[in-house]
Amino acid sequence: MAKPLLVRNVPRDICSWIDQRRAQYNMSQQEVVLSILDKAVEADIELKLPLFSGQPQILERVVPQTLPFTFIDLFAGIGGFRAALEKLGGRCRFSCEYDKYAKRTYAAWYGDTPQGDIRKVKIADIPNHDLLAAGFPCQPFSIAGVSKRQSLGMAHGFKCVTQGNLFFQLATIIEAKRPAVLLLENVKNLKSHDKQRTWRVIQERLNELNYWIFDKVIDAAGWVPQHRERVYIVCFDKKAFPAKPPFEFPNPPEGERPKLLEILEQDPDPKYTLTEHLWNYLQRYAEGHRAKGNGFGYGLVEDLTRIARTLSARYYKDGSEILIPQGNGKPPRRLTPLECARLMGFDEKKIVVSDTQAYRQFGNAVVPKVVEAVGRQIMKVLFWKLSQEESLFCRAPRRKRATG
Ligand SMILES: C[S@@+](CC[C@H](N)C(=O)[O-])C[C@H]1O[C@@H](n2cnc3c(N)ncnc32)[C@H](O)[C@@H]1O
Repeated sequence: MAKPLLVRNVPRDICSWIDQRRAQYNMSQQEVVLSILDKAVEADIELKLPLFSGQPQILERVVPQTLPFTFIDLFAGIGGFRAALEKLGGRCRFSCEYDKYAKRTYAAWYGDTPQGDIRKVKIADIPNHDLLAAGFPCQPFSIAGVSKRQSLGMAHGFKCVTQGNLFFQLATIIEAKRPAVLLLENVKNLKSHDKQRTWRVIQERLNELNYWIFDKVIDAAGWVPQHRERVYIVCFDKKAFPAKPPFEFPNPPEGERPKLLEILEQDPDPKYTLTEHLWNYLQRYAEGHRAKGNGFGYGLVEDLTRIARTLSARYYKDGSEILIPQGNGKPPRRLTPLECARLMGFDEKKIVVSDTQAYRQFGNAVVPKVVEAVGRQIMKVLFWKLSQEESLFCRAPRRKRATG
């Protein structure tokens, strides 16, 4: 039995297409619409799915494991971003890092020596890219005089007061190259740094540059056995993404959390054991602080089925933030560089620098597994955009929408 069907909000161009067919075939509007529906049912055509709204499970299934895209790696360190983005199908077109030891590691691991000081890089030497990745150093901005300049009509937002700052260098590159996506990482206190001014300036500038901004503090403890909170900032160019993309930060993988025990070497070199002298000193120092009611203490990991404190760039000094007990009255030991690589979730590669430099490099790095998880969420947005564009190409040639 036939049923009536009411369709509202039919776009004008579709209405005029129906009218043309009515005139051409001398049919009523109902006959034309029924004939189209009949053909659609017969061919069992695929519908344009709203990939994000209401159908996230479909998207999960269809997003490929890798997607070809290009990226640049700024303040590259030992390439925590690169290690992750290459796994997602990314191809690095440019990198920059000024520390000679970090460059040495980067060259050994990725076969590519980064350019030096970002302040000396010529914009023209940076190739175009889809994604810009950067774990930029956190520096205060001088905002004195902003309101004065603005009242004199001189300033364009914060642009004029950020000269010389490394974030400003980054912003200059973003403005010139306009990558579709930015993936930035920083210490958690970026948001509270300098009475929140630093974060305010960064947001203002990214807004000025016309990017959608998403940010979240993520603890890497869901991916590696280490408490490591960092702020991740993901931005999408509003020119490429006129509507706000449905980006969401990842959740840690389900199941049991990684344990410190899993990354320890079986037979570490005895040179990593603390000397009696240093161990006594650390205990006395901690005791002194405890007596004064202060919180300072070394980080002896009593329970190896738990996670470590944050590995910092100063771990090379005394290793006191993460100490592994050894029993039998022996002083504890610090982590070996190989264990630090595992603690950060890097694939095991040859360490080509001294222990001191290796500790600094791992302590400064981003956790590739977290970048990979964030990158997969970015890929969903890119794939969603690509499939939207593709669906326009795959069907009948795009018709211009009537206006008015
Ligand atoms: C927080 S670390 C980034 C680490 C990196 N994300 C990784 O996974 O190893 C910041 C890096 O910026 C580098 N850096 C600082 N100032 C720089 C400059 N002016 N030009 C190039 N690199 C710079 C430092 O040497 C350091 O390696």
